[in-house]
Amino acid sequence: MSNSKIADAKLADAGRLRIEWAESRMPVLMHLREAGKKDLPLKGMKVAGCLHVTKETAVLIRTIRAAGAEVSWSGCNPLSTQDDVAAALAAEGTSIYAWHGLSTEEFYWCIDKTLEMKPTLTLDDGADLIFRVHDRYKDLAKDVIGGTEETTTGVHRLRAMGRAGKLLYPVIAVNDSETKWDFDNVYGTGQSSLDGVLRATSILIAGKTVVTGGFGHCGRGVAERARGLGASVIATEIKPTQALKAILEGHRVMPMDQAARLGDVFITATGMKDVLVGRHFDVLKDGAVICNTGHYDCEINIGELEARAKGRRTVRPNCEEFTMKDGRRIYLLAQGRLVNLAAAEGHPSEVMDMSFSNQYLALCKLAKEGKTLGKKVYQLPPELDQEIAGVKLTTMGVAIDKLTPEQVTYASDYSAGT
Ligand code: ADE
Repeated sequence: MSNSKIADAKLADAGRLRIEWAESRMPVLMHLREAGKKDLPLKGMKVAGCLHVTKETAVLIRTIRAAGAEVSWSGCNPLSTQDDVAAALAAEGTSIYAWHGLSTEEFYWCIDKTLEMKPTLTLDDGADLIFRVHDRYKDLAKDVIGGTEETTTGVHRLRAMGRAGKLLYPVIAVNDSETKWDFDNVYGTGQSSLDGVLRATSILIAGKTVVTGGFGHCGRGVAERARGLGASVIATEIKPTQALKAILEGHRVMPMDQAARLGDVFITATGMKDVLVGRHFDVLKDGAVICNTGHYDCEINIGELEARAKGRRTVRPNCEEFTMKDGRRIYLLAQGRLVNLAAAEGHPSEVMDMSFSNQYLALCKLAKEGKTLGKKVYQLPPELDQEIAGVKLTTMGVAIDKLTPEQVTYASDYSAGT
């Protein structure tokens, strides 16, 4: 057994089955793994990762190791670790510190343990690991060639750090690859968030009013899937262009103060704190379901919910009933943490295939060129998106057209008119 702390080593067999299932649905990453076994693009690298320990992440970890790197891993959310997957990874020699339901203190302890390897590359989902290096372990940064970041929220913060001149090494914003944000954030979040709501509540979505807090890529995905199940959708927004898109998609848009009175299910996806607060809890319908699919658990102000409740009890796994002083019941899912990972299994393997192919290629790029890069946030070249999407299509048995030589000429002919 590797250096690790996990919930239960006996779960390894179940974890292996789950990982195998994911591998059979992640053909692009598996294709990269086969190539990496020969070329060893990460040979000699030490990768510290802080990202949800799921079956899909295990496929990524196996791929990174097959490419020659040593890995040490922690989960990036207290409720997202799949304990059987963690057990399988530990059994095959990955250093891993992760278990479901750890406390905040334990969460940072796990990150600190992964840093004992003195990484040359860091990989983040939400930037907690990289912040830890910058805040507490600055001396480690000199050996780090570069880092990667998976999420919108993390990239946002790292860009701010880069602009302030505070980044100690280059970072690749994996989130900003088209084959990540335009698929994972939309279709992944859409399906997995509804999956979380359904597993936690088993309610009928058809005929319900679903309120999405935010209509960015994630909110749009949730709205589309909720509509697909027969819900009528209200989107709340702060940005006029996003609000307009929601309207043109046929959804209603209004401030949360109004939507709070109308919604049956609320799913926050903004990356911002205090989307649902006390004054909303005061007017929610009896039986309203509230949950969050943004990275941090600050979108629903749980303190203000607790302060208004005269009683609370867990009525189903990941579903807590708060009884208000006037008798109304509000159901909070997954403690306000990512409902898709805490109450379900996160995004499906097919979509993580592309996200994690970007992660892997970003690590390879940093291993090769990181030392020549500045201390700022970079994107992967857009040509890689076309390559990843091309391989994905091939594995799906889908062919597309190619431009003829005449069309290529036409495309660059600025003199052609009517
Ligand atoms: N983020 C969202 N879904 C995920 C998954 N299945 N694995 C890892 N990270 C995720």
